[in-house]
Amino acid sequence: MPDDTVELEARLEEAESFEPPESFVEQANVSDEGIYDEFEENWPECWERAADLLDWDEEYDTVLDDGDAPFYEWFTDGSLNASANCLDRHLDERGDEAAIEWIGELGETRTYTYEELHREVNECAAALRELGVGEDDVVTMYMPMVPELPVAMLACARIGAPHSVVFAGFSADALATRMESAESEYLITCDGYYRRGDPLHHKEKADEGLSQVDHDVAGVVVVDRLGDEYDHPMDNGEHDYGDLVAEQEGATVDPVERDAEDMLFLMYTSGTTGEPKGVKHTTAGYLSYVAWTSRAVLDVKPDDTYWCSADIGWITGHSYIVYGPLALGTTSVMYEGTPDYPEKDRLWEIVDEYDVDIFYTAPTAIRAFMKWGSEYPEQHDLSSLRLLGTVGEPINPRAWKWYYKHIGGEDCPIVDTWWQTETGGMMVTTLPGINTMKPGSAGPPLPGVDAKVVDTAGEEVGAGRAGYLTIQKPWPGMLRTVYKNDDRYISEYWAEYSDPDADEWVYFPEDGAKLDEDGYITVLGRVDDVLNVSGHRLGTMEIESAIVGVEGVAEAAVVGGDHEVKGEAVYAYVITEEGSDGDDEMRDRIVAGVEDAIGPIARPEEVVFTPELPKTRSGKIMRRLLEDIANEDELGDTSTLRNPDVVEDIQRKVQGD
Ligand code: PRX
Repeated sequence: MPDDTVELEARLEEAESFEPPESFVEQANVSDEGIYDEFEENWPECWERAADLLDWDEEYDTVLDDGDAPFYEWFTDGSLNASANCLDRHLDERGDEAAIEWIGELGETRTYTYEELHREVNECAAALRELGVGEDDVVTMYMPMVPELPVAMLACARIGAPHSVVFAGFSADALATRMESAESEYLITCDGYYRRGDPLHHKEKADEGLSQVDHDVAGVVVVDRLGDEYDHPMDNGEHDYGDLVAEQEGATVDPVERDAEDMLFLMYTSGTTGEPKGVKHTTAGYLSYVAWTSRAVLDVKPDDTYWCSADIGWITGHSYIVYGPLALGTTSVMYEGTPDYPEKDRLWEIVDEYDVDIFYTAPTAIRAFMKWGSEYPEQHDLSSLRLLGTVGEPINPRAWKWYYKHIGGEDCPIVDTWWQTETGGMMVTTLPGINTMKPGSAGPPLPGVDAKVVDTAGEEVGAGRAGYLTIQKPWPGMLRTVYKNDDRYISEYWAEYSDPDADEWVYFPEDGAKLDEDGYITVLGRVDDVLNVSGHRLGTMEIESAIVGVEGVAEAAVVGGDHEVKGEAVYAYVITEEGSDGDDEMRDRIVAGVEDAIGPIARPEEVVFTPELPKTRSGKIMRRLLEDIANEDELGDTSTLRNPDVVEDIQRKVQGD
């Protein structure tokens, strides 16, 4: 039907907005527009709707305690256990249904029914206790996408030990810093995993990290993923995960009753300064919030097969692979591998084979799919899909429309969900059963979320204007503090727009945003020195300090340059010390230095050697100009520079490359 296709193309090009399909609305978990008013009129009690999705050991007395703002407390005096909410309560009705469908990179698969997951979590919990893990001990996990990761997370939750998952792609140094910051004495890691069919020896990195930890480490557990492929060393008293769990065969561990505000986990994330922040999430507020948003936004139902393609090492995986979906008793798909191995149709093959209903991914992945071409999804039947989601960075309308057409078959709403590690769950997005979708714009704030776009003075901007995104009321999934650093919690998130004397607290996520006439928010990206590379958040200061640590480097400035697939790429401008040459060898050492300090995700795309950096008269580096150079944009105002000539020199160098 070529005519239809042409017509369709034209419509997609022109369309500014799309309505959710009637067939979706009819079955949506939330389809009554009245929910917005209902939440507003009944705030904060509206959040009981989220709390009602959980099973409580002890009912809470107060929905929100704001007596010590901004150290808010939610559902105070209630108690519950997150692992019991994700497992035990589903056993009667859903014991034989799949909780996790794991797909390994080599094509192996493992299905964990709720019954089986419950059993292994109990055995793992018993093993951790035996090892000495007590309530409130922080257990670090440095693991790739193996099923033992969610098992260990839920086992920790069961015994009241907060977990701190470190993304497996981070370096040994990054692991050590995080273990030290959390004073964590236990580590669960893995011998290795596969990438594009090749085994990676992850244990070596874990060992190197452990050797840098200053305090005593009481227990290390190693999951054997690679089997005979890799004879990993175990000569420092480590325990084999399989043995520990086998010793506990059939053990049951009563879920520990946790106070609503007890810590569930820590997640380290990059900020403006060089040191990552330990974002603290607590039990009831976080779990109710991710369950609520999984239900309202992702439309998750128990009978669904739901797939979020993130890595559990990031917040998206915590909230929307593990806790949210399992709290609702659905089937969560977990894929170990990369989207283009063995072929570029791998993800669509999985959607087809598992009849995936809901698919949630990042714009960087969508841009890659688009680049590879529509012939890959076309090889498969994707008609099982009902809803699509995106998260992690702004999505441009072209990528949105490609996703809508080629993956969703124009029959699935897309939710473009804005949120952060700190918010715990989604904050700004359309509700798929209610709202019109506008490609490129995340949507209105969720019911009960008071997001406003303001100017530098904190005044709301009108429609059509850009400003700064702020959240003016607390919400249950919010971070409670920066671990062991309450001052930093205030200075990072609450200093900019709050009025402490009037006890008025405004959360500042450090994103720029634009408001439209319908109250939709388009998120423009970070306004601090944080980059978003392939949906991963990286602090420029962290990268700069890694570069300055390389012998022969005097000074460095890192900025983000536009990148077709990654969104942003790392551009490093480097001044060498007298007597050192900015040559290829130095460039290699800089790249290696960044990989060692942070991980390959932070690898600079470009290293530009320069005798000087553009600085203001007060000595501040003008990053904006460095960004203009990276993007080959017209240069902004250079009149306030102390050394305007240097800008053109650098520009010539970059363009000459
Ligand atoms: O800049 C925003 C961007 O990602 C940042 C949060 O990063 P992180 O804590 O790593 O969490 C990512 C997954 C929740 C935000 O400050 N961001 C996230 N989602 C969107 C987004 N930018 C635009 N649109 C989004 N949907």
